[in-house]
Amino acid sequence: MMEAVAASRDNQERDTVLSVRGLTVGFGSKIVLDKLDLDVYRGEILGFVGASGAGKSVLMRTVLRLLPRRAGTISILGADYDQVTDAERISLDTRLGVLFQQGALFSSLTVKENIQLPMREYLDLPQWLMDELAHLKIKLVGLQPDAADKYPSELSGGMIKRAALARALALDPALVFLDEPTSGLDPIGAAEFDDLIAQLRDTLGLTVYMVTHDLDSLFSVCDRIAVLGEKRVLVEGTLDDMLACDDPWVKTYFRGKRARMIVRSDRQSPTESD
Ligand SMILES: Nc1ncnc2c1ncn2[C@@H]1O[C@H](COP(=O)(O)OP(=O)(O)OP(=O)(O)O)[C@@H](O)[C@H]1O
Ligand SMILES: [Mg+2]
Repeated sequence: MMEAVAASRDNQERDTVLSVRGLTVGFGSKIVLDKLDLDVYRGEILGFVGASGAGKSVLMRTVLRLLPRRAGTISILGADYDQVTDAERISLDTRLGVLFQQGALFSSLTVKENIQLPMREYLDLPQWLMDELAHLKIKLVGLQPDAADKYPSELSGGMIKRAALARALALDPALVFLDEPTSGLDPIGAAEFDDLIAQLRDTLGLTVYMVTHDLDSLFSVCDRIAVLGEKRVLVEGTLDDMLACDDPWVKTYFRGKRARMIVRSDRQSPTESD
């Protein structure tokens, strides 16, 4: 109990970079999100999970204003979307980076051109500077310099994810949204990607909102986890909070057979009892 009080006080003192309140989103007669609340704090990696079709991508797209909402408020990096001027909205957008679940890169553009796309859209920089910046980002995400002039079809899945991350980081965002960034990668590639994200959090102070089904990612790099279910955030907290949660879906997800193997080897906190 004392711990819970302390934790809630800590959360209040933390700098909130994304605050969603009472969000309702639907398509026709179908309600996907219903009065959803969510907070994301500066400098954390938030892992966002939920069953397939629960609405994780819809939430991310709504937060990015790519989908309309029926009700609710979204405050992002200290600004309420509904209250900002057009100029403020553009400057806000430059501080957000996104890696979408589908269509991570434009296939007709090279890696360098993909990374420069947001620069072209939002900044007015000479080509030589954009080239230097693109090369910096390529290095930052651990790609070889020769990846710059390759087309997505010439890259492996893991390289595409890294290149897409480089594009998400093109404008030095404060907050990045990653929708299943490690899906389709082998476990070693996925672990390397996770290490990279953690490194960016530690060195750049980046806040990361990561939708993922990858239990390894959730257990190894996420500072906090939020679970989407029943059209809202069912539970939000640390991995220990997830392990203590009695919701049946959360229980199966975090204490099921697959999860148990990871928890046991990583944390030595066996949950064999259930
Ligand atoms: N543009 C749209 N028009 C109508 N329905 C949509 C639209 N986009 C999403 N949906 C519906 O909203 C629900 C949530 O979809 P969403 O893509 O957010 O799921 P998800 O949690 O991201 O799943 P996954 O883990 O498989 O990626 C689904 O039932 C989907 O069919
Ligand atoms: Mg999705």
